[in-house]
Amino acid sequence: MFRQCLRAPSNLISKPIARATFSAPVAHTQFFPRAATMATVSSGNKVSDRIKHDHKELETFYKKIKEAKTEDDKTKWQNQFVWELARHSIAEEIVVYPAFEKYVPDGVTMAEKDRSEHQIVKEKLYEFQKMSASDPNFIPTIDSLWETLSQHIIEEERDDLPVLEKAIEESESQSLGNSFQRTKHFVPTQSHPSAPDRPPYETAAGLLATPMDKLMDLFKKFPSSDETKV
Ligand SMILES: [Fe+2]
Ligand SMILES: [Fe+2]
Repeated sequence: MFRQCLRAPSNLISKPIARATFSAPVAHTQFFPRAATMATVSSGNKVSDRIKHDHKELETFYKKIKEAKTEDDKTKWQNQFVWELARHSIAEEIVVYPAFEKYVPDGVTMAEKDRSEHQIVKEKLYEFQKMSASDPNFIPTIDSLWETLSQHIIEEERDDLPVLEKAIEESESQSLGNSFQRTKHFVPTQSHPSAPDRPPYETAAGLLATPMDKLMDLFKKFPSSDETKV
């Protein structure tokens, strides 16, 4: 696989690099953490705003996969969906679920429920990320994933995030939101269902996969920056 990547034609390599520069600054700023930090700190959004924004993006990307007319377009949106969901899930596990445990009464139960739902999502995402767009199970697999994920999203937005926001000051919420956004810069961009799902093990073991995931991203096709705006 790696050998194939090294042989990839230059036109294949040029597109992801363009995306790295213009459409996915979050994923590819790991070598410029200071710049990334400045960009996120200035937004001042609460943690629930950050998370809801990601949820909207995921719904859009899911719809794009369904609407895509060609296998090439299906693959681009598949890569975008996987990239976003993998980072979102792990950043929640590292930053947001520990905040449930710390600030919310019975937040431990809430975090455990969310982690177990994430595990199901990660296993389905693992299956989906390996699939070719020509596979007859491609759409049924993303539909099944979305059915599980959308229910998790509904409950996270309706039950969990309001309780967390109520339990913390707005400044703390903004700080968590910034941490969430920064964490997405250095976590894996593919699903690794067997990796630990909580700190400190997640930050140590899970991050080992990050460099290889990001290397492989360079050889994949992604939508343009304009296409991914939500
Ligand atoms: Fe979640
Ligand atoms: Fe979420």
